Amino acid sequence: MISKILQILRSEEGPVSKMTLIHELRIEENTIGQYFQTLQDKGYNISHTQNEYTLVHSPDALFPWEFPGRVSKIHYFKELPSTMDAARDLAHKGCPSFTVVIADSQSKGRGRLQRVWQSTQGGLYFTLVLRPDIPPAMSFKVNFAASLTLVKVLNTMYAINARVKWPNDILVDELKLSGMLSEMEVEEEKVSFINIGIGINVNNDPTQKEPQATFLKKILGQEIQRREILSRFLDDFQERLEHQDLENIISQWKKHTITLNRHVKIVTTSKQFEGYAKDVDENGALILELTDGSVQKVVYGDCFH
Ligand code: BTN
Repeated sequence: MISKILQILRSEEGPVSKMTLIHELRIEENTIGQYFQTLQDKGYNISHTQNEYTLVHSPDALFPWEFPGRVSKIHYFKELPSTMDAARDLAHKGCPSFTVVIADSQSKGRGRLQRVWQSTQGGLYFTLVLRPDIPPAMSFKVNFAASLTLVKVLNTMYAINARVKWPNDILVDELKLSGMLSEMEVEEEKVSFINIGIGINVNNDPTQKEPQATFLKKILGQEIQRREILSRFLDDFQERLEHQDLENIISQWKKHTITLNRHVKIVTTSKQFEGYAKDVDENGALILELTDGSVQKVVYGDCFH
């Protein structure tokens, strides 16, 4: 209901009459006040006269009602240790594909390769539960599809020049804007779920602790509504997956990467390689030409440009 109320208020520049709301929402006049009270309590500024309501300001909020059509699949928390854990619990309990766990902040945000992901207020932190009907060996394509979708969404929405660093980091001017972590469980050789956790530095400034990071507010010089990023990302990603556009995902991803044709260093938990990044193969592996001329395939690791 609140989702619908916001939709109506946002579709008008000016005030909306009480009669319009009653008519469109098919509710009793005396229940309208309760919904507006809930919105006011959550930080929405709604001015009203006896017969009209105007939405003056919406907070940068990620409440389920901000995602019309997805409300029942959005699990929003003010704070969590990590959205990855909450999403895994939901996945084990059988939640549907495209369930999203969001937290305004995380006390134990996790990064790849056992790193910490700083998760203070103002950033966008979420984990998406997916149940694609694909063999486990294809799961890497879903991750590449996610980073491809996100980089395109950010570039389209904000006219920036974001690029993907292998495998799934998003950089602007070589500084990290977003990172991605994924977890998968397999049952009887079928993917049971793939959980994709994404952290985007939006209005939070992580640069004190992470000098190699950046954030959207700094790049654009203004605060950004996190819900518009998440909403567009979910729509575009769902569209991509539903149309099984995974076949040529690597070739599409390569058009947006900044990792190829340059000297890189790859650090894994046990090894380190340095070489010229020649290509990313159909399995998502980075093909390196080492200084002695030999070729090395790397399937996971941290990449330094
Ligand atoms: C990385 O670049 O190392 C990956 C960072 C992934 C961070 C996101 S924030 C939402 C989700 N919850 C976590 O604890 N981590 C991921």
